[in-house]
Amino acid sequence: MTDIPSDGSPPSAGPATCLVVDDEPGVRRSLVRMLEGQGFACFEAANGVEGLAVLDRLGEAPLVISDMRMPDLDGMGFLQALRARFPDTSVIMLSGMNETSTAVDCLHLGAADFLLKPISMSELRARVARALEKRDLVLQNRFYQQHLEQQVAAQSARIQQLFLQGVKMLARALEAKDAYTSGHSIRVSRYATATAERLGFVGTRLDHIRLGGELHDIGKIGTREEVLHKPGSLTEEEFRQITEHPALGERMLSPLAEESPDLLRIVRSHHERLDGKGFPDGLIGETIPIEARIVAVADSFDAMTTRRPYRESRSPTDAVGELRRVSGTQLDPAAVQAFEDAFPDLTGLPLSA
Ligand SMILES: [Fe+2]
Repeated sequence: MTDIPSDGSPPSAGPATCLVVDDEPGVRRSLVRMLEGQGFACFEAANGVEGLAVLDRLGEAPLVISDMRMPDLDGMGFLQALRARFPDTSVIMLSGMNETSTAVDCLHLGAADFLLKPISMSELRARVARALEKRDLVLQNRFYQQHLEQQVAAQSARIQQLFLQGVKMLARALEAKDAYTSGHSIRVSRYATATAERLGFVGTRLDHIRLGGELHDIGKIGTREEVLHKPGSLTEEEFRQITEHPALGERMLSPLAEESPDLLRIVRSHHERLDGKGFPDGLIGETIPIEARIVAVADSFDAMTTRRPYRESRSPTDAVGELRRVSGTQLDPAAVQAFEDAFPDLTGLPLSA
């Protein structure tokens, strides 16, 4: 990103070079004299073809003044070719003919102005000043618009980043209160990321799965602690409370809905089951977002291989056996297989957070 100068002004697009194209040497010379008097460095060409050759050498010139009637390539052809290559150049057309239709054509083709010969130098001076002022305004507008868009984009990215940092810290704080779930989200994130990579996820979609693993249970902030940590089985009302955490998590992350819709889908749907017996929506099979199906495998494995208030942990081998057992009814078979492929050696599991 180009920095805005410290005084907040756009880079100067001040007049530097000017090309004068006319087949009459006398006219060219008087135009050049006038323009040099205004501080331009002038170049000359006798027709459109020469004019384009000069511009090819020079690059963009802020100002071009061109006659209409010239041999080889006339003013209209020159104007068209010039505008196609250098759309920001101000072009003033000169003509000996009093033809309004020609003037209109030139303006349609993007000429800044059209003057009839014989030319009054004071008139030309005024027209040049006006054409260049208009060009500067167009360039300044574009500059501000681009920088504004960049600044707005950078600021909204920063706002999202700050929001995410806050939510992540909240998720860690939530887990840290409970020795049983400490590190759960980070491990789920690592399992899910490795599984997703096996399934070919890359880039932003993979990043969202990584983040989805970290934040999948953020909605548990709304579940009462005695329910979360209850050693025995849950009452119907307590279970209902648990089932609310995916939707609450989705609502908490709603500021990211536009940028990261798949992140919200993971949070909402990580407790869905292929057979439709999951919650909160009872989605079936492939209607469950694939990202959520991946996180569900990771979540199940980590839940089984860590100790909970109501049971001891299971060995990784046992847990993989259970993943296989519920593959096709609860969990996605492709995601279970990808998890196994990602972790062929179970001796290093569970991962440390
Ligand atoms: Fe959950």
